[in-house]
Amino acid sequence: VDGPHETMRTAHELAAKLYYHVLTLTEQGADGREYVKERGFTREQIEQFQIGFAPDRWDSLTTILDKREYSLDLMVEAGLLGERESKDGYFDRFRNRLMFPIWDGQGKVIAFGGRTVSDEKPKYLNSADTPIFHKGQTLYGIHLARPSIRKEGSVILFEGYVDVIAAWGAGLTNTVATLGTALTEEQGRIIRRNAETVTICYDSDNAGINAAFKSASILKQAGCIIKIADMPEGMDPDDYIRTYGAERFKSDVIGASMTFMSFKMRYLRRGKNLANEAERMRYIEEVLSEISTLTRAVERDHYLRQIAEEFSLSLEALKQELQQNIRSNK
Ligand code: GTP
Ligand code: MN
Ligand code: MN
Ligand code: MN
Ligand code: MN
Repeated sequence: VDGPHETMRTAHELAAKLYYHVLTLTEQGADGREYVKERGFTREQIEQFQIGFAPDRWDSLTTILDKREYSLDLMVEAGLLGERESKDGYFDRFRNRLMFPIWDGQGKVIAFGGRTVSDEKPKYLNSADTPIFHKGQTLYGIHLARPSIRKEGSVILFEGYVDVIAAWGAGLTNTVATLGTALTEEQGRIIRRNAETVTICYDSDNAGINAAFKSASILKQAGCIIKIADMPEGMDPDDYIRTYGAERFKSDVIGASMTFMSFKMRYLRRGKNLANEAERMRYIEEVLSEISTLTRAVERDHYLRQIAEEFSLSLEALKQELQQNIRSNK
């Protein structure tokens, strides 16, 4: 007899099959198919990521699990069903949503993300942590990405799972995403076990930029070499690929990703008018302070030269200033 964890896993597998079947083959999946068409997910993407649709009903999955004699209390614990307040029955937790199975590192379905196809709130309903699903220890897509991560020696990290799916459509398969929370140390370690170089490619909004800083520091701690990709303000990878296409995403976003230091410099520039002398001096000061935290002399030299050149300053003066900074850091 299987233990409760194994039962939860087979129930997730069954649910994924139901949702996929509904999306691809049934009348109840019409709204899902409409949405998928509008978003431009292809047949291959749907199949590769086992995208499905939870019908707009309270009892689709409940009935199937009940027929197969699953303990429905266990299914509540697994996050698939809810129990009525009156305690006289159960209901499907995911309804009228496009369903994205979430897998563990071995490719077993352990959770779901469900996106509304109308404008219901929340936009995404994700499984809460359960005995088989620990959000902070899971990276979306890792089991599919692992071979190409190992082959490339690098991984691309996104914020959203639809970004992973869009990137696959663009031919980039060494990609994973966190699940709507900040990157954890545990996830950092998983990434480092699979690759040394990480390209952080988060949404280009304030939340994404702040999250990129946090993730970079966790990944640095884990021993990764970090690059950061930048996109036009307000866009995310999926938007970018849909607007500009796969080739431009590969060359102008992933190919043009910068070092963490360059990203910081770009960030410090935002909202400053560098033609203004005082603001320019303030910028240079802030950049020097960042450069002073770099441990490698060649790296410090590289950015000092960059600043010297851009602002027509003497390298000597900048070096002196940097030394003062380094001394005051100690
Ligand atoms: P689309 O709007 O479908 O393109 O999704 P997105 O991937 O661009 O989503 P967004 O950038 O807003 O969020 C990134 C990730 O955060 C998603 O993959 C979700 O895991 C999570 N997320 C977003 N909105 C919600 C929400 O309302 N509730 C929860 N729990 N998670 C969310
Ligand atoms: Mn566990
Ligand atoms: Mn976002
Ligand atoms: Mn996004
Ligand atoms: Mn998006």
